[in-house]
Amino acid sequence: MTAEAEIPALPTGRPNGCPFDPPELYTRLREDDPVAKVRCPGGMDAWLVTRYGDVRALLADRSMSSRGGASVHVNAGGDPNEEPPPGSIIQLDGEAHSRVRRLVVAEFTVRRVETMRAYVQRLVEDHIDAMLAKDGPVDLVEDFALPIPSLVICELLGVPYADRGRFQTQSTVLVSTDMTLEEGQRAFGELAGYLGTLFEGKVRDPQDDLISRIIARAEAAGDPLTMPELIILGLSLLVAGHETTANMIALSTLALLDHPEERDTVLAEPENAIEELLRYLSVVQFGVLRYATEDVRVGDRAVKAGEWLVAALNSANRDEAQFTAADKLDFHREAPRKHIAFGFGTHQCVGQQLARVELQEALTRLFRRIPDLRLAVPRESVRYKDNTLVYGVRELPITWG
Ligand code: HEM
Repeated sequence: MTAEAEIPALPTGRPNGCPFDPPELYTRLREDDPVAKVRCPGGMDAWLVTRYGDVRALLADRSMSSRGGASVHVNAGGDPNEEPPPGSIIQLDGEAHSRVRRLVVAEFTVRRVETMRAYVQRLVEDHIDAMLAKDGPVDLVEDFALPIPSLVICELLGVPYADRGRFQTQSTVLVSTDMTLEEGQRAFGELAGYLGTLFEGKVRDPQDDLISRIIARAEAAGDPLTMPELIILGLSLLVAGHETTANMIALSTLALLDHPEERDTVLAEPENAIEELLRYLSVVQFGVLRYATEDVRVGDRAVKAGEWLVAALNSANRDEAQFTAADKLDFHREAPRKHIAFGFGTHQCVGQQLARVELQEALTRLFRRIPDLRLAVPRESVRYKDNTLVYGVRELPITWG
């Protein structure tokens, strides 16, 4: 095993080269040491799995547990051995996971998500109107990329219009990566209290929304969810669907500003283009965490029960063994859906169809309505989220005309 002093730290920055490329360490490890011990940003050590085939095999392995959550290795002070809270879909294993996932999956089928497309289109158009009504540069993150996924989640959870401002403020704090522990705990407590009252109302008087249908589905199966389970499930959807989609919208906009020659292809074939952007940008930048419940081989490495592993999604999506010219943003790539930006296996992103619809509508409408969209600051002054769970831009000042 690698000596303690030699364990490399996962880099939290991309000082050289293209800001869309994963740090160079990933490329080196993928070639020389594809299952390597690394020190994670939160301080714990884990095996980093960097090859596409190994990552898929790891995520498909039923002996791997998600109990540490997808991201505890990124946050300092996080305890991977804490018991998962009830209803935390992303942390549950086996039958406990299937029980909750079955109830949720029905809400995110292609057909069900298509019924939300008109709502997403309206939201996108309204936010573009509001940006155009402003005189001067706007921050695309604040005025477009963040509020759209947030409002979509309000709609999903059945948050009434009158409460949306308050809900958005609290949820922005909760998903923010710059908050202190106390701020996070306060926002969590307030949101959990808010959702508890909201969901109790839905138990008494069901409405036409996702949570009411999940409550009914669980009851019909003779296995109702408890209120703490429902609240954590609601919060999980909020956190999982918010930052990821928002960062993808803003970072994709920047990538398209950098590749103006490709914009017509994106407008003509948005479905393929979004898949390629998901692969190329792979915003879940520190991968997802797993725990070995038994001794197992991963690639050529013998991993012991009780050890932690990180599936490096961003590295897998740049593996030349799977994707020709993997470091190139290529909107004409064959089989663009082979990427694993949404993970793989039993925990693969449940909201991926919704994310696709949000990305398709946001990006195509933005560039159609504002064809002369451009950065309002020098390109080199754009700041990136180097040490947060989800990669993206801190702000994106844009202008037009
Ligand atoms: C571009 C946007 C998104 C990206 C890149 C993304 C990425 C991911 C990834 C990598 C996972 C796997 C985690 C693991 O294996 O541990 C995941 C799971 C999940 N995602 Fe997403 N996601 C996105 C959007 C959404 C949206 C819009 C929602 C819902 C509104 C959502 C809800 C979830 C949930 C509930 C899980 C847990 C599923 C399970 O554990 O069974 N995601 N996502």
